[in-house]
Amino acid sequence: MKRLFPLGLAILVLFAVAITFVTMDIVRASDAKEMAAEPVDLEAAKVTFEDVCSKCHATSRPLGKKKDQAGWESTVLRMSSYHERQMGGPVSDDDQKAIVQYLLSVAGK
Ligand code: HEC
Repeated sequence: MKRLFPLGLAILVLFAVAITFVTMDIVRASDAKEMAAEPVDLEAAKVTFEDVCSKCHATSRPLGKKKDQAGWESTVLRMSSYHERQMGGPVSDDDQKAIVQYLLSVAGK
């Protein structure tokens, strides 16, 4: 029993080291994911835009306007608050981001 103790300790230490490495890898991987600018799928964003932004007015209302990113972000945020009040929930952050990118690529052109 006494002789097994150092072995048990060694296994424990190895285990702890292995877990530390695995955890560091997971942290590094998720960091890298956040760092990379997520490319927006504009085809999917178009569908989201047409779905969400046609509920209260024609999509031509935003499509006819030209705004910069900050302009679209604030408009989409305001629309999301109307959506929250009238449709029972806000437009999700991901959908807002996608819609902003879609409008930047097509609106007012
Ligand atoms: C819940 C109803 C509702 C939804 C959904 C909605 N809108 Fe609107 N929208 C309005 C109302 C009401 C106005 C007029 C008042 C105003 O401009 O704040 C408006 C006006 C606008 C205008 C003209 C004013 C401006 O700031 O240029 C734009 C552009 C616009 N909406 C874009 C959008 C986009 C993009 C979406 C999708 C994310 C959207 N709307 C979804 C209700 C809505």
